[in-house]
Amino acid sequence: MKKNTVFDCNIIHFPRIANRAGNITAVQNGIEVPFDVKRVYYLYDIPGGEDRGAHAHKKLEQLIIAASGSFDVTIDDGRNKKTVQLNRPFFGLHVLPGLWRDISNFSSGAILLVLASETYNTADYIRTYDEYLNYVK
Ligand code: TYD
Repeated sequence: MKKNTVFDCNIIHFPRIANRAGNITAVQNGIEVPFDVKRVYYLYDIPGGEDRGAHAHKKLEQLIIAASGSFDVTIDDGRNKKTVQLNRPFFGLHVLPGLWRDISNFSSGAILLVLASETYNTADYIRTYDEYLNYVK
């Protein structure tokens, strides 16, 4: 199986329908999202200074969106790391399977929206960095 690298993870720019009364962004399976979305979840009420993530997925891929506010996502393939600040609701970071991710520097009131290719499955998680390095070796 091909190993994904941080260089394979792109930022997807979603369309924005602008209106003086506010904006709309629509995200559709197979059009703006390069996989079928099976689960949507969002993180909110994140206390200042907290870090989230710190795991990898074997099969799941996802788009991470700053629906409100901003935060930094660091992806890591065991060789290279890349940190992306997400701060606009019309950008999505495509995190491919097999990458370690860490999320930090949440702004006050940030909402982290995730579109995921799989339903929740604890067996798909790699929870420690040592285990991850072994997995990608
Ligand atoms: P976890 O994936 O560890 O969160 P993070 O990596 O963002 O820190 O999940 C935290 C808790 O939420 C854990 O008890 C599992 C639960 N959870 C679900 O029940 N369903 C889900 O879809 C997700 C993402 C988490």
